[in-house]
Amino acid sequence: MKTKYAIAFIFIVALVVIEKESNILSMVSDKLIPRQIPLQTPQPPLDYSNTTQNGSLATLLKMLLYKLTDAKLNNSSLSEEQEEQKLDALGTSNFSGGHKHILLMAATRTGSSFVGEFFNQQRDNMFYMFEPLWHVERTQSLADEAIPGTELAEVHRDVLQGLFLCDFSPLEKFIFPPPQDHVTPDLFRRESSSSLCEESVCSPVIKDVLERYHCKTRRCGPLNLTLASESCLSKQHHTIKTVRVRQLETLQPLVEDPRLDVRVIQLVRDPRAILASRMVAFSSEYQTWKAWAQDGLVPDDDERVKRLKGNCDQIRTLAEVGLSKPPWLKRRYMLVRYEDIARYPMQKAEEMYRFTGIPFSPQAREWILSNTQTTQEVSGIYSTQKNSSEQAEKWRSSIPFTLVQVVQRVCGPTLKLFGYRFVDDEKTLIDKSISLLEDKLFN
Ligand SMILES: *[C@@H]1O[C@H](CO)[C@@H](O)[C@H](O)[C@H]1NC(C)=O
Ligand SMILES: *[C@@H]1O[C@H](CO)[C@@H](O)[C@H](O)[C@H]1NC(C)=O
Ligand SMILES: *[C@@H]1O[C@H](CO)[C@@H](O)[C@H](O)[C@H]1NC(C)=O
Ligand SMILES: *[C@@H]1O[C@H](CO)[C@@H](O)[C@H](O)[C@H]1NC(C)=O
Ligand SMILES: *[C@@H]1O[C@H](CO)[C@@H](O)[C@H](O)[C@H]1NC(C)=O
Ligand SMILES: *[C@@H]1O[C@H](CO)[C@@H](O)[C@H](O)[C@H]1NC(C)=O
Repeated sequence: MKTKYAIAFIFIVALVVIEKESNILSMVSDKLIPRQIPLQTPQPPLDYSNTTQNGSLATLLKMLLYKLTDAKLNNSSLSEEQEEQKLDALGTSNFSGGHKHILLMAATRTGSSFVGEFFNQQRDNMFYMFEPLWHVERTQSLADEAIPGTELAEVHRDVLQGLFLCDFSPLEKFIFPPPQDHVTPDLFRRESSSSLCEESVCSPVIKDVLERYHCKTRRCGPLNLTLASESCLSKQHHTIKTVRVRQLETLQPLVEDPRLDVRVIQLVRDPRAILASRMVAFSSEYQTWKAWAQDGLVPDDDERVKRLKGNCDQIRTLAEVGLSKPPWLKRRYMLVRYEDIARYPMQKAEEMYRFTGIPFSPQAREWILSNTQTTQEVSGIYSTQKNSSEQAEKWRSSIPFTLVQVVQRVCGPTLKLFGYRFVDDEKTLIDKSISLLEDKLFN
């Protein structure tokens, strides 16, 4: 073992000398470490960003040594923060049995389906669900009486909790028409979950079953939720992607459930890009915006503008709670900007996996490679992506400048918090050599 450490050590030192790039370094260190430490030991991913940011080689090496020798060193060489992390790791309940529960939260048009695939493609040890809360929302819109906001948030939480524990019954109540003998052809976007289309969950096709009941990879009959639950229980980790959770506080009991080990990833995107994207995707709903853009007149007191502001405020408030690191959410919350993923998909995916504590599978890596046309750099350690970042910037030439001004006016604090630069004229907006993204570390 000692030789291994020595080799790792020399390798890292050499890398530091050659390459002072902090991101590379933190990734190398994390790549090496998991192999040395048994998975079962509760080890929160240490945060190297503070150290690497300042390029303090000595501190970094100390931290690495600390991890490699598993804290045989005494406290003299460690900061208080690291001590605390170590203590927390020891005190963390481990009733979840090493299972991780990832909640990927986003707003619509933020690329959350794409990012969800980062986890869906993990496959063998991952149970992934795509927007199960759609059913709750749907039933709500059909119901005579709407559940009030706070209560709805609690319903959302209870459904999520059930699903994380592989209990589909809280969700079942919201599936319409109601499942018969726990079998339904109507689970929303079943085909978006590779676990729900596995052979073990694939019941025989009934003769007149419609095409939409089928999975992409194989023809499956209606979903037997008992089988789904069995598949879920057989998987080590669980991810749910949702655009329907609107506040963090209501999730506290979920995060504190000792049977779960929850990690929350909040995905955000430039609100100007979201508006541009919505104008394309839901064209007919945005006729008024288009008319405003032509007239150059946008009434701030219009319902639509107010709704835009409301959405921005809600996303910002959510992030502010997460970033304020309340004790119950400590090291369980991560904020990710879609634009950063578009620029560096592999690097950001690795960061997300490191945060969740789940090993990044070769299948997931491969999927990202082939779906972002990522080019591996010479070092092979991190990769950049040109096309997907181009894709992420497309909105800049499609949105009228007048509307950009509206978003900047009503969503100003949100733009500031997430590090999106304001533009003062149309020329800057469409000049893609000018980045609208501040380099910002959130966690
Ligand atoms: C790290 O660098 C920043 C400026 O880049 C500085 O403000 C901060 O004090 C430094 N922290 C340490 C621990 O040296
Ligand atoms: C670490 O500190 C303890 C006191 O808390 C002391 O007994 C022990 O000898 C120290 N170990 C080393 C390796 O310095
Ligand atoms: C930790 O270090 C401080 C001085 O830096 C010392 O006073 C304290 O006794 C040490 N604690 C342990 C447990 O070694
Ligand atoms: C964690 O699990 C180990 C055995 O797997 C057990 O000995 C220990 O008491 C558990 N710790 C907590 C805090 O539950
Ligand atoms: C669903 O699967 C379970 C478990 O295999 C089985 O017992 C049950 O009969 C199935 N339900 C239907 C309606 O086929
Ligand atoms: C996307 O990338 C490929 C190769 O990396 C390149 O040939 C192509 O021109 C790029 N597309 C655009 C729109 O830049």
